[in-house]
Amino acid sequence: EQTLQSLAAAAGRYFGSATDNPELTDTAYTAVLGGGEFGQTTPGNAMKWDSTEPSQNSFSYTKGDAVIAFAQAHGMKVRGHTLLWHNQLPGWVAQLPAAQVQAAMENHITNVATHFKGKVFAWDVVNEPFNDDGTYRSTSPFYTAMGIDYIADAFRTARAADPDAKLYINDYNTDGQGAKADAMYNLVKTLKSQGVPIDGVGFQGHLAIQYGFPTNMQANLQRFADLGVDVAITELDVRMVLPRDATKDATQATYYSNVVKACLAVTRCVGITIWDYTDKYSWIPGVFSGEGAALPWDENLQKKTSLYGTIVTALGGT
Ligand code: G3I
Repeated sequence: EQTLQSLAAAAGRYFGSATDNPELTDTAYTAVLGGGEFGQTTPGNAMKWDSTEPSQNSFSYTKGDAVIAFAQAHGMKVRGHTLLWHNQLPGWVAQLPAAQVQAAMENHITNVATHFKGKVFAWDVVNEPFNDDGTYRSTSPFYTAMGIDYIADAFRTARAADPDAKLYINDYNTDGQGAKADAMYNLVKTLKSQGVPIDGVGFQGHLAIQYGFPTNMQANLQRFADLGVDVAITELDVRMVLPRDATKDATQATYYSNVVKACLAVTRCVGITIWDYTDKYSWIPGVFSGEGAALPWDENLQKKTSLYGTIVTALGGT
């Protein structure tokens, strides 16, 4: 049977969907998630710092383990997301004296990466280090305490804990060429030249039709690959200002197609993950009021036949 995953696999890639713990009790939802369309999943929240270490040195893996168990039961591999991010950080981290942040960061990464060793094939080690203008996100407690050295230290700590996982840096609005992508490119180039153990760059792919398609996406992915790293589309969704109409749907389908084709055209693009598969559980309406309809299945868990067909075609299917 032809699925998004089977087509991606025929092209040497995976096709995945994010998921989250509350959804795993929705049996109509899990029937599709585990039904063969997806060969990979990413936990949307379960492995973040506020879930895994809500108070200092007290670790909780229940949610992450539940996602792993679902994935293993349905033949899906898992991207770990994320070891270090300025969001969804419990308050105690920001309250630490600066001199204690590095040890807390290393302790967190070591514990979490050790727990999930052998169960995730990749980690988003550092998530969203840049502002949109390409400057560093200097309000991050890690940046505040350590400067940019926190990034190299996080990768070295993750490698020591799980030598087999592919270690990624991941960000949004870096999909196309521009100041933010240039900043990421220069960072990755520097990390590679310093021998920092980084294996990949994640391009989140949170797109919106009203803002246009990213500039030269394929060439952008390729220049990163040429640095000697894998690349992946890690959180793809294409939102629109509601309501849907035929014109917006057509534009959206073109964006999905362009992303899939860009990945397939870059040898080191290892796979594509959509940020959940259904509008029922999309993060978008809660953050961008009046926007949504970003995913290939609608809020009733019905496949959007035309969009789905466009993705199939882009993956080389019929
Ligand atoms: O867990 C609490 C719960 O206790 C509380 O009752 C409830 C009330 O609002 O909130 C729950 O936390 C929510 C959490 O998801 C877990 O469901 C947060 O409010 C909500 O903000 C959070 O949203 C997540 C968001 O990251 C936070 O930044 C989304 O589900 C998740 O999809 C989204 O994912 C991010 C990626 O990690 C990084 N890239 C961008 C992407 C989209 O924002």
